[in-house]
Formats: sequence, C-alpha cells, structure tokens
Amino acid sequence: MQLANPELLRTDSFIAGQWQSADSRFSVINPATEQVIAQVAEADVDAAISAAVAAQREFANSTASERAAFLLRWHQLVLANLTDLAQILTAEAGKPLQEAQAEIRYAASFIEWFAAEALRVTGDVLATSVKGQRLLNLKQPVGVVAAITPWNFPAAMVTRKLAPAFAAGCAVVLKPSELTPLTALALAYLADQAGIPKGVLNVITSSDAATVGQALTRHPQIAKVTFTGSTAVGKLLMRQCADTVKRLSLELGGNAPAIVFADADLAVAVQAVMASKFRNAGQTCVCVNRILVEESIAAEFSALLQKAILHLVTGPGVTPSVQIGPLINAAAVAKVSQLVNDAVAAGASLSYQAELALELGYFYPPTLLENVTSAMRISQQEIFGPVATIQLFSTAEEALQLANDSQSGLAAYLFTKDTQRIWHFSEQLQVGMLGINGSAISQAHIPFGGIKSSGFGREGSSYGIEEYLQLKHLCWAN
Ligand code: SIN
Repeated sequence: MQLANPELLRTDSFIAGQWQSADSRFSVINPATEQVIAQVAEADVDAAISAAVAAQREFANSTASERAAFLLRWHQLVLANLTDLAQILTAEAGKPLQEAQAEIRYAASFIEWFAAEALRVTGDVLATSVKGQRLLNLKQPVGVVAAITPWNFPAAMVTRKLAPAFAAGCAVVLKPSELTPLTALALAYLADQAGIPKGVLNVITSSDAATVGQALTRHPQIAKVTFTGSTAVGKLLMRQCADTVKRLSLELGGNAPAIVFADADLAVAVQAVMASKFRNAGQTCVCVNRILVEESIAAEFSALLQKAILHLVTGPGVTPSVQIGPLINAAAVAKVSQLVNDAVAAGASLSYQAELALELGYFYPPTLLENVTSAMRISQQEIFGPVATIQLFSTAEEALQLANDSQSGLAAYLFTKDTQRIWHFSEQLQVGMLGINGSAISQAHIPFGGIKSSGFGREGSSYGIEEYLQLKHLCWAN
C-alpha cells in the first residue's frame, strides 16, 4: 500500500486521545491476497470506557457550533485523504477501489450532514392550563455511546454512527470489526487532527468481539449501544443490554426483494437490480436478495440480466477494471457455495456462473440462479455474495405475499409504471425503505433502517440525531 500520508496507517488502539500499543496483537488479512497486512493491538476496553465517561460531561456542555465546527473540519480532512482512505479500505475489505472511493464519499456525507444537524436540535415550549406555570421539553445527549460496526462498510457505518453522536454531544467507544479495523483507525486519526477533544472518541481494536460486546453492553455508564451487523448478534446484544436498560439502535440483516412487473422499464430494472445486487460483491444489508419477476416477462428479463452479469469483471479490488472483489473471508465463500449448492440440489437451475482463474483470494464467481422457490434456504437468508436468484410470480397479490414472506424488513425495490400499484405496494410492503423504479436508497439524508427482525432506529436524515438525544421535561411552577 503506497499512501501519500503514511500516518493514516495506524495499528494501535486510540484511547483518551492517545495511540495505545499492546504486546498482544491480531492479524488483519487482505481478502484478495490472503496476506497479513497489519498486526493490530488488542485494546484495553475498560480504559476506553473510562476515558469516554470522563470526557462526557464537558463534551455535553460544549456548544452546538463548536461540535459542528469540529465535524466540518473532520469532513474536510476525510475528503482531502480520500485516495489513501480508499486504499486502506480496499486492502482490508477487498472492495474495488472505485467503490471504496464512493464509500469514503458516502462516509464523509454523514459527517457533513450531521455538522448541520448539530445546529438544529431544538426543544419545545408547551401550552399550559395552570396560570403561571411553564412547560418545556429539553433535548439532551443520551450520554456515552458504544458503537459496534461491521466489516462490509468499514468507513460509512463508522461515520453514520459517530457523526450524529458527536453532533448531539455524546462521547463514543467504537468497536470496529476485527476484520477491518484499519479504516476506522485512519478515521480516528483524522478526527484527532480535526481537534476532537480527548476521550470523546475511543477506538477499541480487538479480535474478541464477544468479550468486548459483553463489556460494552453490561457497563452501567454506557447509555446507548448502536450496532450494525447480523440479526443473531443483534438479538444477543439486545438481551445483554436488558439489565442496564440501555437505549439501543439495531441495523440488522435484510432479505430485500426486487419485484419486477411486466409493465416496468426493463432496462431500468436490470440496471438498478445489478447496482444493488452486486454492490460490494453482494455483501450489503440492502442488496437485492430475491428477484421476483412477473411470469410473462421471465425470459426477456433473465436474458437481459444474464447479459449484464457476464460483463462483470472479478478480481483484486486494486485492479482498475474490477467490479467484483473478493468476499471477506474463506467462511463467507463456503457459506455462499453451500447456499448455491443447496438451491441447485432442491431444483434451482444454474443459468450462469463466471469462470474465475484466480489462484489466491476469497473469490466467488458472479452467478445467476433461476427457478428458485421460497422454500430454498437461499431465499430465506441473506446471500451476502454475488449470486442473483430469480423467482416467478403470476399476480400482484402473489408478489406481495412472497415479498413479505420473510422475518427481515429492511428494504425492497419495486419496478412498475402503474401508480395505483406503486401506492398499494408502498403501503403494504413490510420494510423500512422502498426503492421505486430505482435502487439508490443509500444517502445521508434518507432515514436508513428496518422493521421486523431487521432492527429498529434510523440512521442518517433528520431522524438520525434523535437516536442520540433524550427528552427531559421541565414543569416550572414559577
Ligand atoms: C449496510 O449494508 O448495512 C449498509 C449499506 C448502506 O448504507 O447502503
């Protein structure tokens, strides 16, 4: 990795404004080469929590303008270091460089957005029925936040949590995924350069996610836990938070259907499905996971989709033409292979699978499966790999029933020109986000989040900061 600013490559944890080394270290692997790229320190979790607790009071008393100014400086530094940050991200997560750069811009957009939101936190003055009495609602920071972030978006999921927390006045203990800690550490370095007060951001790097998760969820002085990751881990964290009754936001797994009706613009639908399905090699919570196609256009749609898939270039993310990088590790490749094999054994047809000639790396070939049914495991789980599955429907009612037949409720995508149908599906689909004739739902100003087992709470948008604020009522007798 040739960085213009080598200072960005940090391998120690960041606690109380200091880089903390440790004898015990864990390896970070480049999934495209299977080579170790860094040995990262196992952090002292208690020290990080104490630092955040110590910083909380003063930070909560800082002005909104001070916090906004810091966020804007951080935003500028992230953009100024975009090329280096993208290289670090590609090295540890495998994402193609162009996509990594897009993620850094996406990550920066949350910082910019919440710099502005910091200035817009308001309370209320209420009408009263008692003479002389004054009733007011204040909004205050919830307190110390524990943020646990995933490997699939090592930059954007960090800033989507940290920026609103800082805007609201909350100190943070961040636990990035042990698979991708380097991007988070680089962002922390830039936050430090931007002048974040000591102890307001603490980054715990650790290979022992379970123990760190327990320490964070059980600690009485952590007020809130925000987590993006699997539904299984989200449920565990929720149980662990019960004893100390913490505020919680969970952005968990999805199983997004893309419903393509015969009246849709098929070129638009294919382009949007490709962009969503193959984003980050299919390793995205809001990826299209099931493509539901109206029977009468099945042949035409699958021919167009197959044509688009066979143009995908797979390889190491540093190669400029590559669109599909490796999966995160060998276990991820094994899981996707198993899902595809099970589906084929249960009657799905393997219409296309790319041939790869890569000797190293955790690659899985872009694949198209047809004749998929709801009973197959591949329709019930997040695939998290570059595999598109087509399932047919014959009526709108059947499409709706298939789409809602999932414990997940994160996102869905709908392709039709019929406005009555758009309205009906908008009301009836059990999801937190719906893309209509498009799939670009990931933006700083939209409320990102799900329902059902996909979790609760919203990130980004004007709703995002509310997750880090609590209401206090003042009943002032006078
Ligand atoms: C995710 O996969 O959890 C986040 C994706 C996004 O923000 O679009």
